Amino acid sequence: MEIIKDLGRLKEVVGQVRAAGQTIGLVPTMGYLHQGHLTLMREARKRCDLVVVSIFVNPLQFGVGEDFEEYPRDLTRDAELAGGVPVDIIFAPPVAALYPKGYNTFVEVEGITESLCGCSRPGHFRGVTTVVNKLFNLVEPHVAYFGQKDAQQVVVIKRMVEDLNMNLEIVTVPIVREADGLAMSSRNVYLSPEEREAALVLSRSLTTAGELIDRGERDARKVRETMVAMIEGEPLATIDYVEIVDLANLQPIDRLTGPVLIALAVRIGKTRLLDNKMVGVNNV
Ligand code: PAJ
Repeated sequence: MEIIKDLGRLKEVVGQVRAAGQTIGLVPTMGYLHQGHLTLMREARKRCDLVVVSIFVNPLQFGVGEDFEEYPRDLTRDAELAGGVPVDIIFAPPVAALYPKGYNTFVEVEGITESLCGCSRPGHFRGVTTVVNKLFNLVEPHVAYFGQKDAQQVVVIKRMVEDLNMNLEIVTVPIVREADGLAMSSRNVYLSPEEREAALVLSRSLTTAGELIDRGERDARKVRETMVAMIEGEPLATIDYVEIVDLANLQPIDRLTGPVLIALAVRIGKTRLLDNKMVGVNNV
């Protein structure tokens, strides 16, 4: 495994691999790797000749007052974990290599970036689509892997790829959870033991929502209200959003008739956590 920080060296490797007719799989990450990230890498390993993992804490997708500075970073630990998959290349450029002085170009997907996380994190998805676009241009992957954990991110990236006629496939990997249900996240390290316990309310509220729908509830407002009441019952939790949306346009729905996404962002203490569940509902 090679750790590449230099754009010129990356270009050289990508050029050689492409010239040999081999396939490239890219797993974009911000590092501090966990089993969720490693599952994406294993999927890439199954299918691609060259597996590239990018590790880049992207300043452009963090808002003012967010955790860009505190975001956990540990390249040595990440290299050990990625090496175990194994991956072929870790691409970990410095910020100045991706955003040199005078940098002035941004990629923005409209509409679907305004709901859910787009509401509470204005500019976030503009940062994500810009950096992912740059990573696609640099690594030239045939396939890129994203986790369902960030459901809106997947919808936005797929929209960008289709709208800009990008020549690669996007593969989505299901949410990887801890044994007790908490969705894995690099930000889970911020949680105190008490907050770690309180954080279970996210996955529990989704399980309850799924049970209600299984029992025939089709009123999205009722499902949502049950979830909100559960989360509000947890003293350490503050709701950012709890929404039941159409999978295609991420707009809230009233009746559960087709496949929907139940998505939530909840602050546990100061840590903002995400979780979601896709539910395929048959017409009733
Ligand atoms: P990051 O939060 O590091 O996540 C990298 C990838 O791992 C994303 O596709 C994310 O959805 C996936 N992932 C994280 N936790 C997961 C889990 N528990 N189960 C399955 N997949 C999981 O998402 C980003 O970084 C950035 O926005 C990025 C796309 C790298 C652009 O900067």
